[in-house]
Amino acid sequence: MPKLSSDEAATRERRETFLSFQPPAIGEEEIEAVTETLRSGWLTTGPRTAELERRFAEYVEAKHALAVTSGTAALHLALVALGIGPGDEVITTPITWPATANVIVHTGARAVFADVRESDLNIDPDEVARLVGPRTKAILPVHLAGQAADLDPLWELGLPVVEDAAHAVETTYRGRKIGGLSAATCFSFYATKNVAAGEGGMITTNDDAVASAVDANRIMRRGHGSLYDIAVPGYKANLSDVLSSIALCQLDKLERHREIRLRHVAAYDAAVADLDGIEPLARDPRDTHALHLYVVRIDPERAGATRDEYQRALADEMIGTSIHFLPVHRLSAYRELYPDQPPLPVAERAGQEILSLPLSPAHSAEDIEDAIAALRRVHARFVG
Ligand SMILES: Cc1ncc(COP(=O)(O)O)c(C=O)c1O
Repeated sequence: MPKLSSDEAATRERRETFLSFQPPAIGEEEIEAVTETLRSGWLTTGPRTAELERRFAEYVEAKHALAVTSGTAALHLALVALGIGPGDEVITTPITWPATANVIVHTGARAVFADVRESDLNIDPDEVARLVGPRTKAILPVHLAGQAADLDPLWELGLPVVEDAAHAVETTYRGRKIGGLSAATCFSFYATKNVAAGEGGMITTNDDAVASAVDANRIMRRGHGSLYDIAVPGYKANLSDVLSSIALCQLDKLERHREIRLRHVAAYDAAVADLDGIEPLARDPRDTHALHLYVVRIDPERAGATRDEYQRALADEMIGTSIHFLPVHRLSAYRELYPDQPPLPVAERAGQEILSLPLSPAHSAEDIEDAIAALRRVHARFVG
């Protein structure tokens, strides 16, 4: 893609319509698939969900895939399946959507936050090792933005690892697909995700016992007739065929969408290389990055303004941005839950500097050029 020069950026007009940060890339295929499902008579979990599970397991190279109502439910049921409960601790990252920590709290366990690495803001394995204690029952890393967390040193600790792969459908770690590598891996099909069904989630695992515990807890009806039994008092988290039919179309489009994401990311990389004080998070060349988010760090000294000032200025330029993420341990619920929480300096500084730029396969090349031109104008103004 040709690089937009600063002259072009200066002359490229401000947008008239607001550029959404991450619009869903839904087409006629999804609309037809939903219509067909509605006509089939299956509103709840049925053949489309079974097909999605089969296709997803194959795609991520895992033995089992279990569809559930959300990424949050996936994480929760994975922890329940591992027997996590009151008195236990689960070590996780503060740079994540709060759901990652919330599900630990839901089990009655304590979320122990380990600081992140400067380079990619994924959980720092050295910090995790420092925090492991007799109550630690699992580690819950997140593959932030689509970059795999550093899993080897986490596995070496000998505890079950539950991966939050909400951003990581296409991610590989050292040549292997994320999905069948740890005790359980949890995906999200939320409206903005690489496989977007509106809502939905998937747990993948090679462990038969984990799969069967998750299955029992999503309370799928077994057998026929009016007599029934349940093995455990489960959570009712099974996925509807209507949403599964959307997810199936999105799976079909992953490669096509990835090509678009790659072009958008290349355009951003070329642009920010010229902007002092604005840098993307590191992407490890050994791994496939899912390119779910394009996160930059804004150094207020060099970039002439804070992240918040950049975000406001970009909104004035009709460009939507977002923040992935504010450190969870600084949010009200967690300040109250864990008043003894020590500072996590890397996460806390990053939480003030990170900004996610618009990135979706629904964006055109012109949309991304608009975002880049606006960023260049704002940068030029702030740097002075
Ligand atoms: C890192 C991360 N974990 C978990 C979730 C929860 O997924 P869901 O919204 O499908 O419950 C999300 C996003 O929504 C997320 O970004």
